[in-house]
Amino acid sequence: MKKTNNYFVVDPWKIVETKFDKNRVKYSESIFSIGNGYMGQRANFEEDYSGDTFQGSYIGGVYYPDKTKVGWWKIGYPEYFAKVLNAPNWIGVSIKVNEESLDLNKCNVKNFQRELDMQKGVYKRKVQLILKNGIELSVEVTRFISLNENSLGAIEYKILAINNNCQILIEPYIDSNIINEDSNWDDSFWKIESLKKTKLFSAIISKTNKTKFEVCTYMANKLFYEKKAVDPLPISIKSKSKISQSFKINIKKGKILTLNKIGGYIKAKENISKNLIDQAKEIVDKYLKFDFDDLLKIQIESWKKIWDVSDVKIDGDVNAQQAIRFNIFHLNQTYSGKDPELNIGPKGFTGEKYGGSTYWDTEAFCLPFYMLTKKQSVSKNLLKYRYFQLDKAIENAKKLGFDKGAALFPMVTMNGEECHNEWEITFEEIHRNGAIAYAIYNYVRFTNDFNYINEMGIEVLIAISRFWAQRFSFSNDKNKYVILGVTGPNEYENNVNNNWYTNYIARWCLIFTKKQIIKIQNFYPNDFSRIAKKTNWNLNEFKLWDKIIKNTYLPYSNEKEVFLQQDGFLDKELIKANKLKLTDRPINQNWSWDRILRSVFIKQADVLQGFYFFSEDFSLDELKKNYEFYEPFTLHESSLSPSIHSILSSRLGLIDDAYHLYLQTSRLDLDDYNQELDEGLHITSMAGTWLAIIEGFAGMKINDDTIHFKNNLPDKWKSLSFKIYVRGSLLQINLSKIHNNYIWEDKSTLKIIIKGK
Ligand code: BGC
Repeated sequence: MKKTNNYFVVDPWKIVETKFDKNRVKYSESIFSIGNGYMGQRANFEEDYSGDTFQGSYIGGVYYPDKTKVGWWKIGYPEYFAKVLNAPNWIGVSIKVNEESLDLNKCNVKNFQRELDMQKGVYKRKVQLILKNGIELSVEVTRFISLNENSLGAIEYKILAINNNCQILIEPYIDSNIINEDSNWDDSFWKIESLKKTKLFSAIISKTNKTKFEVCTYMANKLFYEKKAVDPLPISIKSKSKISQSFKINIKKGKILTLNKIGGYIKAKENISKNLIDQAKEIVDKYLKFDFDDLLKIQIESWKKIWDVSDVKIDGDVNAQQAIRFNIFHLNQTYSGKDPELNIGPKGFTGEKYGGSTYWDTEAFCLPFYMLTKKQSVSKNLLKYRYFQLDKAIENAKKLGFDKGAALFPMVTMNGEECHNEWEITFEEIHRNGAIAYAIYNYVRFTNDFNYINEMGIEVLIAISRFWAQRFSFSNDKNKYVILGVTGPNEYENNVNNNWYTNYIARWCLIFTKKQIIKIQNFYPNDFSRIAKKTNWNLNEFKLWDKIIKNTYLPYSNEKEVFLQQDGFLDKELIKANKLKLTDRPINQNWSWDRILRSVFIKQADVLQGFYFFSEDFSLDELKKNYEFYEPFTLHESSLSPSIHSILSSRLGLIDDAYHLYLQTSRLDLDDYNQELDEGLHITSMAGTWLAIIEGFAGMKINDDTIHFKNNLPDKWKSLSFKIYVRGSLLQINLSKIHNNYIWEDKSTLKIIIKGK
């Protein structure tokens, strides 16, 4: 295991940076990102900064379809790649001190500290600096994005004159002249519609080109000199894209100037007819009169409600404690579950890489976190998201040559259309269909809400199973049904035949869907007629499904007694990952793609992902053999990988291994294991981290009407406690070396089995 740094102070509730390093600004901008599920931003400085920075502010669901650019067009490619769009800047504050611009890149920074207080949901920065003109200042900034009010962000910006009197020109602004880090054709993404200023606030209405998302970026400001309000100069329109409000004031040595700025975005929605400016006015009227500290109190209370349910307490290991809270914090900042149109992008609101907001990550990794720490409506919204996109998934499958209502959900999407255009991902990573079906199964076994299946889920299951039934082909040579030309979860191999994981989950989908259809036919006849009509269901379809189920080819090595990741896996040179030079890692940054494809090295759990999902289907001995075979070849160069291996090693009683893998997944960004922190955080894998504790160290599993636990605490941990929602009731779990307590906070009829008893 590689540990790249210990840069941030280790603290149970805070992430703290104690120095200013110009080379690390982009990294810290990712770590200290804040958001509320609706909007979010990287931790860019409010004041002008001429050094290396990655400016990023994002609004959930707002994207631009950047026309696909490829060398060789392949039929079936999506027309566009969805870019997660950088949104107008509402946090900006330009400052001049005796006419010199306050810019950390140009002055002498004497002290610098920033912290993310995860308990309170607040980001703070404290800087002591000397400008070139000799003026020494202390600057203290507090910023948060409200959990309570989707469109509200707030900043308190304090300046203390340390060594001299000085004149300060402070200009909070909003700016719509925004670029994305990348664009295929140098398109402009935003069109500015209008700039509006009133006495109280200012706003810019802009629209995304092509997608026509209409957004109002607004701000309102108050300035105090030693607690006395300062009158602003009139708001001025600085350019076609920028509005600012200026305050000019002389301040005395030892005195403090405080700016309170509120701002954010309001996105036009079909169901809200009120115009955006009126909506902005409403927010400003309501919140500008609040003291900053009162707004902060509301924020702290809102976070308290989240932590009351979702906190995981680890006693005896601050490193691990800080890390899990960091993961839980960011998951809550990324998705609140209030809006079924939103989802959980791999970078959340912390960067632009990946495009699109929805990958298989949502179903395979994130769903359990939201399902077990939030009310049922939240995870149901995640399922409905796919249900509402079913027609597009059917269209997508049609483009690729499938018919009769078969659906292939996109590997990456914003609105249901595929928006990724690397052929091996778009066309080949079809295993995503399996995860979407699995999520329905997972949801029902945890919530007991079978109605979701007869009301909506069954349509998704039928369409996915129809896809699999057509995608399997019969091999005369093997006398079995095979799936050719796929990429499994391990993206370090493409166009393989019979990826075990894909074949296994495809077969499982057929079995599971068939069971649900029969159940609905027997117990919900009205639903059955409706669904049969809508989907053109024909009972004869089972004939082919049954044949496939009985005769699915699942590659296996008798000699090694393991399932084979795909045909020909054993032809590879079986070199172990620990034989690789450190300078070769990560191989995706150091090796040619050709070399990667030929190698045995596995990017992320593949066969083992199947063992994780379908643990009841295999014995512990089978798990052990497969784990011992695959773990040494696995590089964990996908952030999604170490959590799954951690859970499996906990199940095998390899607690030290599980612990190291836990640190790798939980501190992936804090310690920058994958050396790409500047691009943003790995949000979706954070849910895997949480699973590594709940399903790994606490050994939680649910089958039928029974929930199982097994205390697998790492040596270092004195105790572990957390809560989860199961079947609508909240269960509190406290584990230590000497006790295991399970307390239902509400009544439940579920049986709890501890260590098999
Ligand atoms: C992983 C995929 C994942 C994607 C987004 C890739 O590196 O290999 O499994 O869906 O990242 O997180």
